[in-house]
Amino acid sequence: MKTESISVLIVDDVAQTRTNIRRLLQFENDIEVVGEAKDGKDAIKIARELQPNCILMDINMPEMDGIAATEQIYQELPQSVIIIISVQGEQEYLRKAMLAGARDYLVKPFSGNELGNTIRQVWEMEQSRHIQQERNRQPQQSAEVITVFSAKGGVGKTTIATNIAAGLAKDNKDVILMDLDLQFGDVPIMMNLKVKRSMADWYSEGFLNIDDYLLNHESGVRVLAAPEIPEEGELITAEHVNQLIADLQPLADYVIIDTPQFFHATTLQSLDLAHRVLLVAAPDLVNLKNVRRCLDVLDKLNIADKVQIVMNKVGKNSGLTFNQFNAHLNQDIWQQLPYDPRITALAVAQGIPVVNLNAKSRLSRALIKLTKQLNEEDELDEPGEAKGLKLLTTFATRRG
Ligand SMILES: Nc1ncnc2c1ncn2[C@@H]1O[C@H](COP(=O)(O)OP(=O)(O)OP(=O)(O)O)[C@@H](O)[C@H]1O
Ligand SMILES: [Mg+2]
Repeated sequence: MKTESISVLIVDDVAQTRTNIRRLLQFENDIEVVGEAKDGKDAIKIARELQPNCILMDINMPEMDGIAATEQIYQELPQSVIIIISVQGEQEYLRKAMLAGARDYLVKPFSGNELGNTIRQVWEMEQSRHIQQERNRQPQQSAEVITVFSAKGGVGKTTIATNIAAGLAKDNKDVILMDLDLQFGDVPIMMNLKVKRSMADWYSEGFLNIDDYLLNHESGVRVLAAPEIPEEGELITAEHVNQLIADLQPLADYVIIDTPQFFHATTLQSLDLAHRVLLVAAPDLVNLKNVRRCLDVLDKLNIADKVQIVMNKVGKNSGLTFNQFNAHLNQDIWQQLPYDPRITALAVAQGIPVVNLNAKSRLSRALIKLTKQLNEEDELDEPGEAKGLKLLTTFATRRG
């Protein structure tokens, strides 16, 4: 498990026993005897000085016995593990020693193998316990969930989701991109990713650790791919989406969710659980009508207050200017992205997000500005605030 040797202090009132134990351990390359003590008092003094990883402690000793010494060392030096070495017939003492903080015991006589293995096991358990405690002390990472949604297909959701993910990764954020377009997920194409594992595998293999189902993109973004076969997409329910988001949240700073063009229970779940919903629209009449309707629906679902409108393909000659579109919405447009068919076509053809392909293009600059804005707004949030699943109202309960 580790390369450093385990330092050991031997405590026994019989000099011959100390020598024998030293001999037993001399062939264990990963264990080093660093000191000896002849009674409990001596043990406390030397343990303070040497701070050994492990203390082999006899029970019956003059001055201070092994139980009293164990109790004190356990309080003072909790990082040193204590193993009791006793003779037969000290069962009651052994119980007391364990209560005093000893981790294990060995009954004399024991072999070098037994002794070495016990020391190793106890020490490794102690290491794992420390790692776990350290993890528990650190505030749980809890990703901000951003769902990219639209009222109409083909407006640029996947383009925006992939680029926000890549943009945030450029800013050293830990990002997971989840492709919730369960029938026709485009994320792997847009990011030139080979789908080795997908949500369908997570489902069929029994919902194992989600970390093992993420694909690594060279930008640093990790991707949870949608099922590759459209029929398999139907296996994923709103409840699964709930679980997926909860499982992914502790693993990243951001979970970005790309959605399909249809209003599906799974999409709704992702809207419900999001901290932020980016509603993507393009400036034309059909979009305007759909966005207005969509905002009404989201309002009824109590989702409207976290919706931010991103106008994409601004400048495309599609019958409605940005200003006309803006004037007919009773909600501000949060960000706008220019129409840039050349760079997007190139990005799709090469499977590279626009922000990675050419950071200087107009679309890239607008996407980077959007990402920065996201970052800045998040930093205004209370520092250290754990972003929990604030809106755990499921599709079923809301409508039930
Ligand atoms: N700003 C832009 N300028 C020019 N073309 C764009 C822009 N954004 C996206 N596109 C192009 O529009 C098309 C649709 O984009 P995309 O697939 O991202 O939309 P979508 O909303 O995810 O579609 P779907 O609803 O089918 O999932 C793509 O060919 C993409 O390259
Ligand atoms: Mg898409």
